[in-house]
Amino acid sequence: MYLCSMAEDLTIISGSKAEIYQSLIPQIKGLLEGEPDLIANLANVSAALKEQFGWLWVGFYLVKPSSAKSTENELVLGPFQGPVACTRIKKGIGVCGTAWQNAATLIVPDVEKFPGHIACSSLSRSEIVVPIIKTGEVIGVLDVDSDVLNQFDETDKEFLEKIISQIPIS
Ligand code: SME
Repeated sequence: MYLCSMAEDLTIISGSKAEIYQSLIPQIKGLLEGEPDLIANLANVSAALKEQFGWLWVGFYLVKPSSAKSTENELVLGPFQGPVACTRIKKGIGVCGTAWQNAATLIVPDVEKFPGHIACSSLSRSEIVVPIIKTGEVIGVLDVDSDVLNQFDETDKEFLEKIISQIPIS
């Protein structure tokens, strides 16, 4: 039998947020090492974050053409962990679409106060969205939703951006 031990190898720790990220980052680096496939890597990053933090929803949206004939792009659902989610998001719409438009991380402490927030789950209370940028272009976003108000802060921004920067983009 051939054993794929990657998932079993994830060490879940408790501690401060920074300590947890510091333990997780080298493990994520290990998961990504030698694997060029974007979907495989996004799947493992969302699983590792979900397993360690237990957030409501962790996943990726990727910038793709709106339809086969369209020159317009939109965000299309990619690998994720959590409840089913909306599949397509337009630029400038919701938290994800706004982070894409601004090409900058967006922290939303209370989703009910964010104009145009797209409620994929009624349990979602706060959110952080980190764009994936390749040569100056946003090619996707990491979206994390929590069922706790005010879950995300500058520490999450710093470390999630670090994690995203480790994903090889061909
Ligand atoms: N709430 C997001 C939509 C994606 S789901 O939460 C998974 C938004 O407003 O962009």
